[in-house]
Amino acid sequence: MNVDDTVRTFIDFYRDRGHVPIPGHSLVPPPGDPVLFTTSGMHPLTPYLEGDRHPQGRRLVDVQRCLRTTDLDEVGDDTHLTVFEMLGSWSLGDYPGTQSLTWGYQLLRDGFGIEPGRLHVTVHEQDEPSRETWERLGVPIELTTDENWWSNGPTGPCGPDSEIFVWTGDGPPTGTPTTDERWTEVWNHVMMRYRRLEDGTLRPVEPENIDTGMGLERMLTVLQGKRSVFETDVFRPWTGLWELDEPDRRRVVDHLRSGIVVIGDGVRPSNTRHGYVLRRLVRRTLTTLWRTDPTRTLGDLPSEPIEHTIDHFELKTLPSPVRDVLGTEEKTFRDLLRRGRSVVSRRRERGPLTDDDYRFLHDTHGLPRDLVDLIRG
Ligand code: SER
Repeated sequence: MNVDDTVRTFIDFYRDRGHVPIPGHSLVPPPGDPVLFTTSGMHPLTPYLEGDRHPQGRRLVDVQRCLRTTDLDEVGDDTHLTVFEMLGSWSLGDYPGTQSLTWGYQLLRDGFGIEPGRLHVTVHEQDEPSRETWERLGVPIELTTDENWWSNGPTGPCGPDSEIFVWTGDGPPTGTPTTDERWTEVWNHVMMRYRRLEDGTLRPVEPENIDTGMGLERMLTVLQGKRSVFETDVFRPWTGLWELDEPDRRRVVDHLRSGIVVIGDGVRPSNTRHGYVLRRLVRRTLTTLWRTDPTRTLGDLPSEPIEHTIDHFELKTLPSPVRDVLGTEEKTFRDLLRRGRSVVSRRRERGPLTDDDYRFLHDTHGLPRDLVDLIRG
């Protein structure tokens, strides 16, 4: 199953069960939203999970791009991405979590063709209805507490969840999701039975809302029998760009692809908020590229990955403005490095750099530590 088949299978399954497909939102939430970027599929639906009526009804399905900077240092391994997509389904007080789990199981088995013997779930120990449902379906259960509680922040909709894992090891499954990392989490069904108030108390929500989110790239890894998200078809246009070791190649691909999506959603590099995140992505890319060859330039990036990213995410931009933004930021960064080099070398004449030196270079000259380390070689 390629990426388009996977998305279609998910959307069609829920459409056949009365869900209305809704368009994904921008990565940048509207003004007044407390979060910088959309970090999960449910985030744009928060007002409806808090009780507003959704104009398209009580059963919804979509694919939503998300961005998480908390994982930036993990990028380079098999699973983490800065920008990723979530396939999501919602019941706004329309059907119970037990129905969501039963459909989830059917979709995995019949729609995606996953052997039931490769499934395992984790369930909140106090979530009796979910536990009984999984028992009835014959899926092995691991009970936990904190790991199976989902919220999108300190206040708002929240509740116990069932995380669904697929065995991706060689040979028959062993252990459980928390004891063997070859269990790959692909889908989370959250029973939003509560709302956390400002004072920390939980207010029950009846009837419960259901929020599910499936990591698209992780699911592709499973369906395509790959070890890492970077080997799936969605990353095919990014192969063979620069000669880098594998973790560096993955970082460059992730950061550039994420940067293109952020630019496509209207962000421009700056020293604050959204623009700072974009700036970090581009500069981390360049730092990685230049570590082994300072002559590399983003101008050498072929058109195909840019066009593919714009098409895939249905971004409202053409390739040339994306190239312009990347090119301008590269030049700004090169100029900063040139100026920084003389400041750093003057400082180094006095001996090895101390923490105070790093602080001075950062506070007075805007040179972050990793940049100073790059300059001093
Ligand atoms: N909100 C849950 C998650 O992000 C399920 O969509 O995992």
